[in-house]
Amino acid sequence: MQANATSSSPVGFFDSGRGGLCILEAFRKLAPREPTVYIADSANCPYGNKSAGEILALSRANARRLLENFGCKMIVVACNTATAAAIDSLRREFPDTPFIGIEPAVKPAAMRSRSGIVGVLATAGTFSGRLYNETKAKFARDTTVIATVADEFVTLVEEGRTDGPEVEEAVRRRLAPLLDAGADNIVLGCTHFPHLRKVMERICAGKAEIVDPAQAVARQAVRVLAKHSLGAKRADRTPLDLRLNTRRTPDAAAPARSVLVTGGVRRIGRAIADRLAAANWRVLRASHRDDPLADITCDLASDGAADALFAAATALLGSPPAAIVNNAAVYPGEEDEAWRVNAAVPIRLTEAMAESSQGGAVVNILDAAVASGRAETRAEFKAYERAKQALHRATLEDAARFSGRLHVYGVAPGPVLAPEAVHEKARLSPGQTRRTPADVADTVLRMLESRPASGAIEIV
Ligand code: DGL
Repeated sequence: MQANATSSSPVGFFDSGRGGLCILEAFRKLAPREPTVYIADSANCPYGNKSAGEILALSRANARRLLENFGCKMIVVACNTATAAAIDSLRREFPDTPFIGIEPAVKPAAMRSRSGIVGVLATAGTFSGRLYNETKAKFARDTTVIATVADEFVTLVEEGRTDGPEVEEAVRRRLAPLLDAGADNIVLGCTHFPHLRKVMERICAGKAEIVDPAQAVARQAVRVLAKHSLGAKRADRTPLDLRLNTRRTPDAAAPARSVLVTGGVRRIGRAIADRLAAANWRVLRASHRDDPLADITCDLASDGAADALFAAATALLGSPPAAIVNNAAVYPGEEDEAWRVNAAVPIRLTEAMAESSQGGAVVNILDAAVASGRAETRAEFKAYERAKQALHRATLEDAARFSGRLHVYGVAPGPVLAPEAVHEKARLSPGQTRRTPADVADTVLRMLESRPASGAIEIV
């Protein structure tokens, strides 16, 4: 175990991309109390055709991030290719951390097969690894194992294409020879492939069984946690489910122009993130939903979300962000959720910035009605209003508290027309004019670039 890891530390997972999410989801179902951190190393995807040395270096970097940035108590290598190339070295290098790996389920497939013919779909890297070859020699001596490299499936899954005529054609091309040869078990030896399971089952049409080890890996992870007395003891209300995507980014900006935008994939947050990116900022977008644009996915109402988010930004950038735009908010919401997302998380993120940086900036997205003291009359927005009032006050207090170390600003939009239509919260009252997300984004950019005196709040 990592020196500072405890039973309440998260379990770490990594893969070259979306593949390992199958393992993560199986684990979270089995162990719903466990906080988890998942790294999708999309910047370096695919791993399958890289050399063992390259895969080892990437795996090491992922393990380091999980241990150093998040203090993970255990690591699940949710990738057959990385397990093949790296698990022995990782166990040697980090002897205090339990590692769980995944390898093609050749043994159960060989045991189950009646035809004595088994197909295995995996990457070239997995097929050349020691684990696969030893397992095959030991448990499938009397079985004909047909190894098929299907790297193109990885690309399809990464592009979010998991069904449709083109996918069906690609899958058929790989499965037909296996079925024609009499294979009655087909092993998914790459964690990306279960995402194509529906299509595979259609093509197999009952002639072969699909073997996916995700459940077995999840069970093993739970057993190992228990063995090391590392299972989560406290039942958090919403245990952390943090996902990072290392996506390839244009190597524009200097570290001094890195910014984390919460709620950065939709509405005002998206406009802000787009505007900053266009002005050559290195933008990390956080979102509570799985979105192709999101660099970090995390429900801000979950336990420990603010610190986890800050750690995620630091892990992705290699150093803390130079700025944070606290934009995410829930509108009609349950009191506790509205409080956490709209006030507690931005306030904690501001503290984290002050603790780690000199000369950074935070922009809190406030509310024009709150800023001008207009009382909210609709009951469903009361919790929102209370939280935004607290954030407004905190903006002023933090500007004073962190003076000389951090610039703290507020931008308070009135009713804004979002591209997805007007949110009920943004209904116009008589005499009001409607602004656009671009107006808000321009104001945020101007504040970050011209750095007025800390504590400035602009109503848009
Ligand atoms: N998902 C990975 C595996 O299980 C590798 C996919 C790739 O990046 O090639 O093998």
